Parts: sequence; C-alpha cells; structure tokens
Amino acid sequence: MKRTIGTCYYPEHWPREIWEQDAERMADLGLTWVRIGEFAWSRLEPQPGQYDFDWLDDAIRILGTAGLKVVLGTPTATPPRWMIDRYPDMLAVDKEGRPRKFGSRRHYCFSHEGYKSECARIVRELANRYGNNPYVAAWQTDNEYGCHDTTVSYSAAARRSFQLWLRKQFSNNGNAGDIAALNAAWGNVFWSMDYDDFDQIDLPNLTVTEPNPAHSLAFRRFSSDQVVAFNKLQVDIIRSFSDAPIAHNYMGGVTDFDHFKVGQDLEISSWDSYPLGFLEDRVGQDDSHVTHFARQGDPDYQAFHHDLYRAVGRGRWWVMEQQPGPVNWAPFNPVPLPGMVRLWTWEAFAHGAEAVCYFRWRQAPMAQEQMHAGLLRPDSVEAPAFAEARHVAQEIASAPDVSIKQAPVAIMFDYNADFAWNIQPHGRGLTYLSLIFDIYRALRQMGLSIDILSPETRDFDGYKLVVMSGMMHVPEDLKQALSQSDARVIWGPRSAARDTHMSLPDGLPPQLVDFDIKITSVESLRPSLGIELEHGGKCCHYREDIEINDAETLETTKDGTRIVVARGKQVYVAGWLDQDGWMQILRKQCQNLGLDLYDLPSGLRCRDTLTERFWINYDTLDHTIDGLTVPALSYSVQPI
Ligand code: GAL
Repeated sequence: MKRTIGTCYYPEHWPREIWEQDAERMADLGLTWVRIGEFAWSRLEPQPGQYDFDWLDDAIRILGTAGLKVVLGTPTATPPRWMIDRYPDMLAVDKEGRPRKFGSRRHYCFSHEGYKSECARIVRELANRYGNNPYVAAWQTDNEYGCHDTTVSYSAAARRSFQLWLRKQFSNNGNAGDIAALNAAWGNVFWSMDYDDFDQIDLPNLTVTEPNPAHSLAFRRFSSDQVVAFNKLQVDIIRSFSDAPIAHNYMGGVTDFDHFKVGQDLEISSWDSYPLGFLEDRVGQDDSHVTHFARQGDPDYQAFHHDLYRAVGRGRWWVMEQQPGPVNWAPFNPVPLPGMVRLWTWEAFAHGAEAVCYFRWRQAPMAQEQMHAGLLRPDSVEAPAFAEARHVAQEIASAPDVSIKQAPVAIMFDYNADFAWNIQPHGRGLTYLSLIFDIYRALRQMGLSIDILSPETRDFDGYKLVVMSGMMHVPEDLKQALSQSDARVIWGPRSAARDTHMSLPDGLPPQLVDFDIKITSVESLRPSLGIELEHGGKCCHYREDIEINDAETLETTKDGTRIVVARGKQVYVAGWLDQDGWMQILRKQCQNLGLDLYDLPSGLRCRDTLTERFWINYDTLDHTIDGLTVPALSYSVQPI
C-alpha cells in the first residue's frame, strides 16, 4: 500500500477564476486526493428539480486534469431551505420534543421517508452523472453521521418507524409482532408498563422518571439501524453507477450508532481527526494532562480512533479530515506546536492509513468556520500547515510500500455496550468508551500495538491477549469461541452482565464457559473513593463482588476483597481500575505471555506496521528508547 495525502475543497465557496490555480497548487504540493461536494446541495439543486451541475462538472474536470483524484461527497448532511418547506416534519426532534431548526447542518431525521426519497433522488442524479467520470476516484456518503448529537430523533416519523421495527423484532413464525413477548422481555410488569399493542409504544423521552432501560436500549438500537439503512440506501444507488470505492467520514468520540454495521456496506472507513479539538472535553483527562498536551493533543486518543476505524473499514481506512491549525469549535482553540501536523499525519500512517486529507484547503472568510485554519489563509497565502504537508509529501514520495500487521493484543469494542452503559451508567460520567480507552492507554504505555475487534469476531487466531471488558451483553457463541481460542481473555468489569434486553441473566452474570464465577453485587464509587489494591493502583468508579467456585484469586484490595480472579487463560477483573491498577494487572498478564514490554513516558508511543516500528513523540523534549533518539514533536522509524 502507498501512503497518500489530500485536502477538502469547496469550489462553490470561491470565484471560478481561482479554481485552476488552486488545483495546480494542490498538485504541486504533492496532494493526491481532493474531497468536494458534501455540503453543496443548495448550489446543485437551487430549486426543487432544477439542477445546476455545470459548476461541479468544471470543478471535477479542473481538479482531475491537474492530476488530482476526486472524492465526491453526497450533499445529504445539508438539506436546502426549500426542503424544509416541502417537509416541515423532516427536522430531527430533540429529547425535549423540540424540532431542531434549519440554519446549520445535519437538520434531518433518519426516519423521515420523504427526506430519504429526496436523498435517494439527489444521490441518483450525482451517481448517474459522475459514476463513470474518470476523475471521480472515490465517494463519500453524507458527512459525519451522528455529529452534533444527530443520531437519535424523537420525531413522529421515528415513533412510527420504531413501532414497526419492534413489531419485526418480536415477530416469529409469521406472527406479526407478539406484544406479550415484548412485555416479558422488557419486564413490563414492573410499574404496570404492559402494552396491548405495538402502536401504543412511544419513544422513551419525556417520561416522568427514567424509562425502562429495555425500552431505551431498543430505541438506541433502532436509531442505529436507521443510520445503517440511510447509508445503505445511498451506497446501493452509487454502486449501480460506479465502481469507485465508497467511504463515510466518521467522527471522534461519537458512539451512538454501530459503525461496524455501517462499515460493512462500505469499502473504506474514514474519520475526521481534530486532536486539539477533542482534547478539552472528549478525552476526559485532568487539567494538568490537558495543559501539558494543549498544543499537541492527547497521545492516545487519535491512535485509538485510528485502530477503531481500521477495524470498521476491515483494514482499509483514511483520515478524511485532518486538523491543520486551530479549529473554531472547541472550548479553547490553540495553535498546534510546529511539527504536530506532520506528526499527526505520520501517526495515522503508522496505524495503517491509506490517505490523510487536510481540512481544509483554504480558510473561509465567511459563515460558521471563519476561525478554522486551512492549508492556506483566506488571502491564499500559505498557512503554517502548508509547509508541514509539503514535508510529508516529500517523505511519502520516497517511503516504501507498507502493509498492516496483526497486533499481539486486541480489545473488542461493542457499540451496543456503549448504548447500554449510557442508559445505565450506575455512576456519574461512567461510559464504556472511557473504560475501554483507559485500558487502551495502559496497554499503549507498555509499548504495545493494539487491534480493535468488532463484536462479530469469532476467530481470534494470532492474538495473545483479548480484552472483553465492559461488554454488557456477550452472545453465547462468542463466549464459546473465546474459551476455545488460544488467547488469554480479560473479562470485567461488567462483561456479560445483561441479556439482550437489559435484564440480569438467570443465575447471575457473567456465566462464562469453563469459568465458574458469579457477580453477586456491584457498587459505583465517587472519584474520591478509590480503593487501594494489594500490589499497586486503585479500584475506582466501579466495583463488583465476585463469588468463585473453581478459580484462583490474583489480586485483592488492601482489605482483602477479591478484584482479579482467573481460571486457566480466562481472567476476570471485578472493578474499574486507575491507570496504575490497569498497568499492574495487565503487565503481569502480558509478561506471562512473553510480550516485549516498555514503561513509556505519557507522550511517547509505539506502533508497528509489518516492516517498521514507529516511535511517536508528543512531548516537547526528545526521548531515547532502545538507543534511538525520538526527537520532540516528531517520530522515528526503525525497520523490524
Ligand atoms: C468536521 C466536519 C467539517 C468541518 C470540520 C471543522 O467535523 O466534517 O465539515 O466542520 O469539522 O473542524
């Protein structure tokens, strides 16, 4: 695989006279890709049914003849104003029952049939016109599903579709929806919540106190399925006209739909990486960490998403948007330190990215993102990131082809578990994503490369360690597959804690194969209530009481309460540990498995491809490792 770079361009924002020059400058910079079109609906169809494709024809031709490959976006994230006149009820509705207004973007409900048919129509027009265009080398569907909290909508359309979805879920042997089965599965006897008919089932918002978690989980799954179907509608149309690969650009920290399911319908997964944008309020670290990395970003957060989206893309993934300077949307928007744009790009390549595209070519002087940097300033003079992109272009021109290598350790990531934790966190601020991220960070601190696995995985060949923490529902065949694999498996906390409908399983969780343990009670802990472990670190946030039959105790709290138990190669951690705690427990397991381990400073990380070991340094001082100096805010690469 070759490594490539690109940019995001909005020809409709700029006078036609400068397009040629822009295209030449892009090609001259060494860019391969240019993504266009994803917000241009009002200029492609100014009035219903009146199309204007001439400008897009020109833009594609100009970019293509300059030697660039076009990624053409479908414009469905920004329905034009006339669409709202046509379908006033297509707007998504928030939890409080208020329609979200026109005037920014993503103002649609995934369940609205009228809007979906309009999307199918514009996508068909585009695919028909550009499906065989030699310069259109890839497609992007929509833009950042779920961003700005837009997966879930409490509209009338969503309510109707949810009822139909439930009917299907609870139908068997031709029986069109068994309401008694739903009542039983959801435990609706509790608080007299029994239904007589699917048509009575409302959306789980505006209830007096919390809705039934089974109801909420079903609604989250339904909402996720609506995103999958919306995407597939577009993909099927594009495929009938074009052989070019199709991507979607996911966002960082957005977990409210099942990306693996969307990814199954696409050739490429991509995501939008804004390291400084994410740092303040998505990473979830304390003030001193945020201050230390304020101009670099968190050293594990991008890497985690690279690994996640590599899995979502089944190996093929890009960074569709790379932060090039200050953004406009985070609580604070500092300038990155010199070198970071190049470093972020190489970090993505180290994790197997095929392409990294900088957002955006030129800073916009108008509208919402006027304070968002680009590769060029609004006056077309090079912004600081331009030189860094040029540096990368020169480096990749002479870099060898590269292949991805299977990592020795893996973490399963299950979006359904994320829904379940969200519905029932049991303690303020406890999320599945942050639990998994804590474990990811601990493993990275030991210098390990990590694969993320989809919950559909049943073949664990080649993995020495598989982490299954926090996965609230684990299907029986997955438990079986793990018990039969050669991998060491880390379970807990909260693994297999619920059945598919958010109830406790008969006989108490987790009911693992060949590992007879029982979680008898659980507690959540305020942050100040960390419980010290016998061999270092603390149990914080969440703790489980565990009963063992035929298992050994590996770690206890200082007062003797069991925290880690094992039988054979299955290990259960009955708590959410702090960083020292995870390190202590996981290090022993990894040492046992003969893995090469480090204890890296928080700014230094490592990632292997098939032939190279990358050392990535987010710190402002050089680090020396294995006799190699990794310069500050830069990377070093060793052959392996
Ligand atoms: C992304 C989005 C882009 C742009 C960018 C600004 O989330 O896809 O269109 O808004 O953020 O950082």
